[in-house]
Amino acid sequence: MSAARRAVVTGGAGFLGSHLCERLLDTGYSVVCMDNFLTGGPENVAHLIGRRGFRLVECDLTEFVHIPGDVDLVLHFASAASPVDYLKLPLETLKVGGIGTLHALGLAREKGARFVLASTSEVYGDPLQHPQREDYWGNVNPVGPRSVYDEAKRYGEALTTAYRNTHGMDTGIVRIFNTYGPRMRPHDGRAIPTFIRQALNGEPLTVAGDGSQTRSICYVDDTVAGILAMAAARGEPGPINIGNPDEMTVLALAGTIRDLAGSDSEITFVERPENDPAVRRPDTALARDRLGWRPEVPSDRGLRRTVAWFEELFAENREREEAAV
Ligand SMILES: NC(=O)c1ccc[n+]([C@@H]2O[C@H](COP(=O)([O-])OP(=O)(O)OC[C@H]3O[C@@H](n4cnc5c(N)ncnc54)[C@H](O)[C@@H]3O)[C@@H](O)[C@H]2O)c1
Repeated sequence: MSAARRAVVTGGAGFLGSHLCERLLDTGYSVVCMDNFLTGGPENVAHLIGRRGFRLVECDLTEFVHIPGDVDLVLHFASAASPVDYLKLPLETLKVGGIGTLHALGLAREKGARFVLASTSEVYGDPLQHPQREDYWGNVNPVGPRSVYDEAKRYGEALTTAYRNTHGMDTGIVRIFNTYGPRMRPHDGRAIPTFIRQALNGEPLTVAGDGSQTRSICYVDDTVAGILAMAAARGEPGPINIGNPDEMTVLALAGTIRDLAGSDSEITFVERPENDPAVRRPDTALARDRLGWRPEVPSDRGLRRTVAWFEELFAENREREEAAV
């Protein structure tokens, strides 16, 4: 990658977006990070401010979007992503998936840039095929509570494909599976930060249902490497699954996190959310064949790093609170 390359990351102040901005800068890109701080925040990219080539622009993607100068790559990541967030923000989620995606595509078209859409394993809904391959069309309830996210992403995929076919744009779609790591928010409602927060605070770990539903979890460094491999694969349209096939039950995940956190919290069971998928595991053969990518970080190592990051975060928060008293 040459030093002159410039990328726009929408949703760049979020969990995944902030890691993408960082990695792009490391590889010689200059980066415009666009975000309205709805579910992310400037603190996620505070360490990048002042770094050569980095620019943070506060803006709402559903409104008019303009960036002066050349752009080689648009990574469209703006969207609430955790169920707690998108259930609280249903219209914002549909709008950024629809109008926001239109604007991001328009920007990429104007600049002649490659466009990469952050889609999701949620397009498979509660899947009837296991593991999920890219040619599976999914099982989504269009009027269920999760549809605001799932259908927005499915629509985003349709828009991206239509722009590619109509305007001859270079677009790529990645379907990202559950990703975890530093900079997740302790209260974002996703299973991993929730279990870690509960374990570190000595609270009961709240497992949904009987915990027999499965998830396949991918460490953020691996996911980011997969996304950037897709970005570099000019001409490759996808969709391509990016995730770690290391599947485990939610109950086993809770137990692992409790052990890694050295906690003796009990595990309790709470009601399972409506339309919560029973199973999740990516088939990653396409990512291997087309992108030469495969996940490398084993779950216990990734979880250990994530627990350590949360420990530090909580210690800093405590120090700040004590200093304020
Ligand atoms: N983290 C995962 O496991 C995962 C899995 C599948 C797909 N994805 C996709 O990756 C992307 C990022 O997810 P994340 O986990 O980092 O979530 P996140 O909530 O941490 O980040 C999303 C960012 O988008 C911003 N945003 C939302 N609406 C916006 C708007 N209208 N204008 C500008 N910015 C806006 C938010 O403020 C936030 O900073 C999302 O598109 C999500 O659907 C994530």
